[in-house]
Amino acid sequence: MSAHEAGAMHAPGYGGVAIVPAWLSPPQDLNALLPMLWAGSVRRRTGGVLVVAGVDVRDLAAEFGTPAYVLDETDFRDRARAFRDSFAHSFADLCGGADVYYAGKAFLCTAVARWIAEEGLGLDTCSGGELTVALRGGVAPERIILHGNNKSDAELERALRLGVGRVVVDSLAEIEQVAAIARRLRVRAGVVLRVTVGVEAHTHEYIATAHEDQKFGLSLAGGQAAEGVRRVLAHPELELLGVHSHIGSQIFDTGGHELSARRLIALYAETVRRHGVTMPELGLGGGFGIAYTSEHDPLEPKVLADQLAGIVARECRAQDVPVPRIAVEPGRAIVGPTTFTLYTVGAVKDVALGHGSSRRYVAVDGGMSDNIRPALYNADYSCTLASRSSDAEPVLSRVVGRHCESGDIVVRDEYLPSDVARGDLLAVPGTGAYCRALASQYNHVGRSPVIAVRDGEARVIMRRETEEDLLALDVG
Ligand code: LLP
Repeated sequence: MSAHEAGAMHAPGYGGVAIVPAWLSPPQDLNALLPMLWAGSVRRRTGGVLVVAGVDVRDLAAEFGTPAYVLDETDFRDRARAFRDSFAHSFADLCGGADVYYAGKAFLCTAVARWIAEEGLGLDTCSGGELTVALRGGVAPERIILHGNNKSDAELERALRLGVGRVVVDSLAEIEQVAAIARRLRVRAGVVLRVTVGVEAHTHEYIATAHEDQKFGLSLAGGQAAEGVRRVLAHPELELLGVHSHIGSQIFDTGGHELSARRLIALYAETVRRHGVTMPELGLGGGFGIAYTSEHDPLEPKVLADQLAGIVARECRAQDVPVPRIAVEPGRAIVGPTTFTLYTVGAVKDVALGHGSSRRYVAVDGGMSDNIRPALYNADYSCTLASRSSDAEPVLSRVVGRHCESGDIVVRDEYLPSDVARGDLLAVPGTGAYCRALASQYNHVGRSPVIAVRDGEARVIMRRETEEDLLALDVG
């Protein structure tokens, strides 16, 4: 038999009490905002309503509807600049500075690409579509990196025609693919080899990328990386700019990057010794973590840059090679905290867990279509009542979406005031990265807009998807 009666015993914490995660305790003040979770301009105005860059969230909801991703533009620019300046400063004496490429996969639209260009960062793309948006936003091709483990001939040809600065090659076969296209176009392609350094990043399995037995890169241990170096050097139409590794995402210390840098620099030194060539660049990838809940404690860009500079200096000294120019690719750490998702509360219900106890379910008007991360990675988020403050007692609540799946969870565990009711606005911080980017139209719910707020003004940078948009793809 493959089915049986499921009672309350199936709820986590069965036996009558909902299990509270160790990091979550009832707040002293339910209306307080934990600064590390929110964009710089988010405040609670007297009377309790949340404001961002001086704009009242009730006005945002009235004008643009909910759900909506609300992005603090100044905060985005500040974070981009903090990365740019911290890395420029920490690496200045070592190698004349470092290049910061914003990883567009976290969230990209024309406005964001423009901000990145204006703030003097480069852009990491991984598809023809991202490349199109980058160009539309005015990013210079030489400041663009093209990643991807399965690039098409068309994508590579376009990148080489445009003069994209770096193609990150992911396999031995791709070396031949890029070389053939470069030969045909009579151009010299700047390539970087993506190396699997064999580091197990302590993060969710699906976002760890440099252990063995996954799809990315040329294995260092298996000798593919050294073979890749040899093959690139054998092609006059390819210029070996460097080696690169990205060990994973949502990482909170530099231990993994240290191991990765050590192995990349050893490969670099071996290349210098064996082939007599230097590679001007070394890519350390992105993956720097952000706070989604009070359990997370991210490093400031300055601390991160200082630690990475120390690591690179030490490893290059140990290998007796000059320090190459360093590149990093933060996505989440730049855009994640800039944005919160604004939802309207609908149904609120208490679901029995047995023994007279229950769990409060608060349903909002979005869900797994605008944030798949809880379902996909078991990601935790926080939230707050945004349209008012409340003196009601805290109730452990689960915020869920409107989709037809029980895994449609927005915030698994959060204390919310007991008087939260239909029509209230809830705000979920930290939704700038991999939320709109991974959004779907599941259940034919159009994707939510992105509203940029700056100096008291709000404007749509990506509009809401309408039923007409959905029907436009449906050719009948
Ligand atoms: N560079 C490369 C080569 C990457 O593959 C990635 C992310 C990044 C940089 C940027 O990583 P970040 O700094 O944003 O952590 N959807 C997942 C994350 C997937 C990351 C994919 N690669 C999530 O929602 O957690």
